[in-house]
Amino acid sequence: MRSVPTEWESYPIWYADYDALRHLIGGYSKVMVLTDELVARHVLKDFIQQSKMVSVPVVTLPPGEIHKDIESCRHIWDAMLRHGMDRQSLLINLGGGVITDIGGFCASVYKRGIDFMHVPTTLLAMVDAAIGGKTGIDWRGYKNQIGTYCPPKAVFIDLRWLDSLPSREVKNGVAEMLKIALVADAELWSQLKDLEEVRDFGQQNLIERAIEQKRAIVRRDVRDRGVRQILNFGHTVGHALESWYMHRSRHIAHGRAVAIGMYYESRLSVAKAGLSSRACDEIAEVLHRFFKISGFSKEEAKELWRNMLFDKKTLGNTVYGVGLRSIGRAEWGIALSEDEVVSLLSGAGK
Ligand SMILES: NC(=O)c1ccc[n+]([C@@H]2O[C@H](COP(=O)([O-])OP(=O)(O)OC[C@H]3O[C@@H](n4cnc5c(N)ncnc54)[C@H](O)[C@@H]3O)[C@@H](O)[C@H]2O)c1
Repeated sequence: MRSVPTEWESYPIWYADYDALRHLIGGYSKVMVLTDELVARHVLKDFIQQSKMVSVPVVTLPPGEIHKDIESCRHIWDAMLRHGMDRQSLLINLGGGVITDIGGFCASVYKRGIDFMHVPTTLLAMVDAAIGGKTGIDWRGYKNQIGTYCPPKAVFIDLRWLDSLPSREVKNGVAEMLKIALVADAELWSQLKDLEEVRDFGQQNLIERAIEQKRAIVRRDVRDRGVRQILNFGHTVGHALESWYMHRSRHIAHGRAVAIGMYYESRLSVAKAGLSSRACDEIAEVLHRFFKISGFSKEEAKELWRNMLFDKKTLGNTVYGVGLRSIGRAEWGIALSEDEVVSLLSGAGK
């Protein structure tokens, strides 16, 4: 019998319901807000005013993935201790996926775990990072190597905040919305595939649907042992690419990395999971509309393969990827060899 701890089933997701937010906050001994400098500039004042929090301590990190690291954790834990956060305290993670990931991680181990709530302010964090209870930080240039599974107490979304988000950041969320549609929801794909502008993706009905699809998958497999792995579609190549950039002290947007990953993994799906060529072309067309898809030299493809060996789904010298059987249906655990991956990456995208 499937058993899912109730906190995974039942945490609420509120859309600008400030009464519910105030009610939740009122039940804690102390509340602290974690955010980053840009979110502090654009969103923090509005959030604090609307939620009517009085003199709440705020810990602010510099923005960016490079700060999703152990140094930032030290800073957060120091602040939590300094402000007397106890086991009845609540950490509010106000920001994009970097803040929800690191804040969730710090709270989930502080004094062996205190409550936290996510207040995502990017499209990506709304539809993906804040949903599903994965927390974590990067380690020596490899993504999400250290982390926990721990659900938030609640998720609070105010779509007005997307107005200040630069379009290049909105695109990161677009990639994850396309992904969830591709692996789980053909109907959502048909609603998304003809959108022309990235900001069209910020509609509440589309966001809610993407979130509910992710939640439904997570409920079936909280700890990522089975079906949840379909959410890694595009990420086998995508994460390898992000590591490739990090090792050169450069940055590629997560959304673009995943979009490039989805492009190549769709092509792999034709050979390995039965995706039709027509569907593969349709996916490529939509991805090209929003993202620049790179090709790779053989040497680059080999280095990407070596990065993939650090993927959590790798066993020995075999990488296990996700393939699409059709749009809206995915399978996981597809064994990929070095030859297959290198020839795909070095031959296809030119
Ligand atoms: N835990 C998960 O399940 C999960 C899933 C997907 C992604 N992630 C993680 O999420 C991270 C990426 O998240 P992201 O794309 O949100 O990046 P991010 O947190 O770096 O935010 C992107 C940028 O937008 C700024 N910003 C945020 N909200 C803003 C607003 N409303 N107005 C103006 N600027 C704003 C931030 O300061 C930052 O510079 C990665 O670390 C990735 O690994 C986690």
